[in-house]
Amino acid sequence: MKNQVITSKDVHLFYGKFEALTGIDLDFNEHEITAMIGPSGCGKSTYLRILNRMNDLIPGVKITGEIRLENQDIYAPDTDVVALRKRVGMVFQQPNPFPFSIYDNVVYGLRLAGVKDRATLDAAVEASLKQAAIWDEVKDNLHDSALSLSGGQQQRVCIARVLAVQPEVILLDEPTSALDPISSTQIENMLLELRDQYTIIIVTHNMHQASRISDKTAFSFKVGWSNSMTRKKMFLNPKEKETEDYLSGRFG
Ligand SMILES: Nc1ncnc2c1ncn2[C@@H]1O[C@H](COP(=O)(O)OP(=O)(O)OP(=O)(O)O)[C@@H](O)[C@H]1O
Ligand SMILES: [Mg+2]
Repeated sequence: MKNQVITSKDVHLFYGKFEALTGIDLDFNEHEITAMIGPSGCGKSTYLRILNRMNDLIPGVKITGEIRLENQDIYAPDTDVVALRKRVGMVFQQPNPFPFSIYDNVVYGLRLAGVKDRATLDAAVEASLKQAAIWDEVKDNLHDSALSLSGGQQQRVCIARVLAVQPEVILLDEPTSALDPISSTQIENMLLELRDQYTIIIVTHNMHQASRISDKTAFSFKVGWSNSMTRKKMFLNPKEKETEDYLSGRFG
């Protein structure tokens, strides 16, 4: 059986009085890609941000339940959040390179961690850009601004930036939705290559993408409304009737 890298039990999240997550149980295995799909507003981004404590930055958020990374409670008071975010890296929907060179983008996290040795940084840049399947396109222009690249190239540089700090888990929130089909395919193929080394969790609205690249799919749907609160459940490899309906486009 594969090692469960992340486990979460009965996770609730409140934005003020609004309960955006209503008791989520989800586990993620190492060396697997788990896709998360579900209708807009069902809490996919909210759940993803829980896993590296990005919601901590939003005022008025309250989280209950248990979330463990390699059996360590990531909401324990003594958790080093900066170290956590190194272990659990995140890629967003819109490519968000810093307004620096490609090289400086990729080594950003390493420099923050105090790495100064040029040869170490050079090696990390080459290895990360190769893993992100963009080395050949940029190797002669590493000192050009990352902002001069296309959207698809920028997204792969952002992925290289995450890989450079050698995370265990990579969270991707709709990483290809702003990209053309060729760039999306490049990123999908890259994720399939990376799967052997990482635990990958990807939010996508594209069910074809989910079925192409994921080992498992976590699915969320809404059923009705009560007291303006959404009732929902998430499943792994769902078998329920509603899930079938959603997947076949009859619901959602
Ligand atoms: N910072 C916030 N403050 C208050 N409510 C929020 C905040 N962020 C999200 N929400 C609410 O929480 C719910 C879940 O939002 P979330 O962004 O996680 O959905 P999502 O599944 O990622 O949707 P989408 O597919 O559109 O990206 C929504 O009702 C949203 O309005
Ligand atoms: Mg979202």
